[in-house]
Amino acid sequence: MGRKFIVGGNWKCNGTSDEVKKIVSMLNEAEVPSQDVVEVVVSPPFVFLPMVKSQLRPDFQVAAQNCWVKKGGAFTGEVSAEMLVNLGIPWVILGHSERRALLNESNEFVGDKVAYALAQGLKVIACVGETLEQRESGSTMAVVAEQTKAIADRVSDWSNVVLAYEPVWAIGTGKVASPAQAQEVHFELRKWLQQNVGAEVADSIRIMYGGSVNGANCKELAAKPDVDGFLVGGASLKPEFIDIIKSGTVKKTA
Ligand code: 13P
Repeated sequence: MGRKFIVGGNWKCNGTSDEVKKIVSMLNEAEVPSQDVVEVVVSPPFVFLPMVKSQLRPDFQVAAQNCWVKKGGAFTGEVSAEMLVNLGIPWVILGHSERRALLNESNEFVGDKVAYALAQGLKVIACVGETLEQRESGSTMAVVAEQTKAIADRVSDWSNVVLAYEPVWAIGTGKVASPAQAQEVHFELRKWLQQNVGAEVADSIRIMYGGSVNGANCKELAAKPDVDGFLVGGASLKPEFIDIIKSGTVKKTA
């Protein structure tokens, strides 16, 4: 199939400079599969990006956790895609459910951000996922499709996009989606892409799973055919992140 496994560490709004240095040392000392087998991207808060980029091993990449929807200017408190490019930051996470929920980022706004970031040359991890209420009312796929459609309406080249399916009810709750639940949505999402974007994109795009992934549950999830990686929150700050990176090797024998 040829989709390279990708593991992202979303550090969210955590860390002091000492803590960040410790995490970077832990990552730098780790023995992990080669970057041809598993791609690793860590996403510290903005203020630590230059430090992490300069200290992190070269086979791991960095991502910002957000960027502004258009060119910079009089937008107090924002960070533009151009600034990330200027600093040599290759990736950005967009549409995380915490931003959708707490900062009212709409599907359209996220779609605009994805399109703008891609146009500036960034690679994008675009997050989608349903709330518990939406899952219980049976609208999981409709929600995920609508979120993805807002991106599809604005993007024609998907080669620098990775999707992250992160069910909101699984984020930070310790309640991981079962491998079957994750596989089902990833499969449906790929089918949606096939029908609405194209077979080539559907086949080649990587879909990460995110939500309470840890060292203990990662292997079983990674073995599912449409799970192409993980976006990890809490566990990305801990040594078990290395085990999560290593779980990507299951694909080699698949
Ligand atoms: P947790 O792994 O802490 O559940 O967070 C997942 C997440 O939101 C990654 O973006």
